[in-house]
Amino acid sequence: MAEGTNPRETADPFWAEVDGYITHHLVGQDAVGEAILEANERAGLGFGAVAPSEGKLLELLVRACGAGKVLEVGTHGGYSASWFARAGASVTTLEIDPERGALARASLEQAGFGERVEVLVGDAMDSLAALHARGAGPYDFVFLDADKQRNPEYLEWALKLSAPGTVIYADNVIRAGAVIDPEGYDKRLGEGGIQAIRRFYELVAAEPRLSATAVQTVGSKGHDGFLLAVVVS
Ligand code: DHB
Ligand code: MG
Repeated sequence: MAEGTNPRETADPFWAEVDGYITHHLVGQDAVGEAILEANERAGLGFGAVAPSEGKLLELLVRACGAGKVLEVGTHGGYSASWFARAGASVTTLEIDPERGALARASLEQAGFGERVEVLVGDAMDSLAALHARGAGPYDFVFLDADKQRNPEYLEWALKLSAPGTVIYADNVIRAGAVIDPEGYDKRLGEGGIQAIRRFYELVAAEPRLSATAVQTVGSKGHDGFLLAVVVS
């Protein structure tokens, strides 16, 4: 598909309305989360954080698996990390951008999660290698939400830092359905982004240690979805 021609990229505002209904009933007033999202907004990071309904899902998944240690690749403004921290987990989160890293640290401290969240600023490939070298892990839950072009490499490290039972959750693996087109293009992911996501699916599928599925979502962030894998051996 040629650049910028995915006709399905346009989000239906009704999906956001329904997301609002879900959030109103099941997330509710959330001063902590709202403060983080407002700080993101002030810093020009209005897009890229998980929706509140997905943040709550992350908290519930971490609670459901009793995950004590979470590894996050892609801190952004710290919003998703705050959901992991609320689940009671200790979180190591990796961020390439020093300004975003500082913003996340400040927001998480403000939220009272400073002790529970370690923000490592730098290229995730270096941070992952450093974590492995210092014997960190195994992590119980790994959240991939950084540069989607590098999901294949992040997956390799995630597996090195995992053990049987570890859950790997990768955000944004549908991209308005562009993922099913070998020539797919997503303007926010850039050239080769969809192809990297497709490679990620292939690697997950071929990895005997993983059992996985992906779920499409619609909501305030359009039509997208996540891939969930469990390390089974
Ligand atoms: C983008 C990144 C995300 O992590 C996300 O959830 C949605 C969009 C993006 O950069 O386009
Ligand atoms: Mg995301």
